[in-house]
Amino acid sequence: MAEHWVENHRRDSWRRQAKAGGYRARSAFKLKQIQQRFELLREGDVVLDVGCHPGGWAQVAVEEVGETGTVIGIDLQATQPVDGAILLTGDVTDPLIQSRLLEVLDGREINAIVSDISPDITGNWDIDQSVAMSLVAMVFDFGLPRLAAGGTFVTKMFQGVGVEELIAEVRPHFSKVRRFSPEASRNSSSEVYLICRNHTPWGAPETPVSERYEASLGQRLNGESIDVEPTTTRFKVHRRG
Ligand SMILES: C[S@@+](CC[C@H](N)C(=O)[O-])C[C@H]1O[C@@H](n2cnc3c(N)ncnc32)[C@H](O)[C@@H]1O
Repeated sequence: MAEHWVENHRRDSWRRQAKAGGYRARSAFKLKQIQQRFELLREGDVVLDVGCHPGGWAQVAVEEVGETGTVIGIDLQATQPVDGAILLTGDVTDPLIQSRLLEVLDGREINAIVSDISPDITGNWDIDQSVAMSLVAMVFDFGLPRLAAGGTFVTKMFQGVGVEELIAEVRPHFSKVRRFSPEASRNSSSEVYLICRNHTPWGAPETPVSERYEASLGQRLNGESIDVEPTTTRFKVHRRG
């Protein structure tokens, strides 16, 4: 009960701060804290914000890249305009929205991909977590070919089965890969952010991340070494409508 109170109190505190700072969502502080720690976004950068609704991360990204930068957001849900950002509505795995993004990029490479994507949930933790991890792998497959050498990829992940496998498959694409829990997301869910720095396209395997990920996960499951840990945490649910 006491833990619950502390958790709710923290959430309210970030919510109040978001409102006071003019941010649409308390999640804005997660990106701000990631930025404070790693200084990933720079003036003039091209940033892709995956799962951008309601626009908190896009607001932070616009502040960081300034007038010379470009922020492009994609979400299943239409996002109210954010000054200085281009916001697309659609599924990031849909070839139509992907080609729309290419049009907007107009030949430019992306310097930083920041993904806070959370799929809708069924309520069954194992299924939801596994769907979320596969979606993250798909975002890597879509994003990596467009990410500049030296670029950055930040993605939310949900703790559980497949995290280690996904990290192993992503590692060859970057010289630095680490997990980070911003203060604003601690105790609120089982989310953790993967911070991938210095994209090294020349060292990466050609097989898509999602294929390698599913294969190594399959091997682990067939080997019956799986140990699904019970958890009381849930996805931070994003409900439409
Ligand atoms: C936690 S919210 C993102 C919050 C956002 N970073 C902010 O600060 O305002 C996660 C978002 O992922 C989006 N999403 C889930 N699956 C998606 C998909 N396949 N394509 C695009 N967006 C998706 C959801 O619609 C939801 O708005």
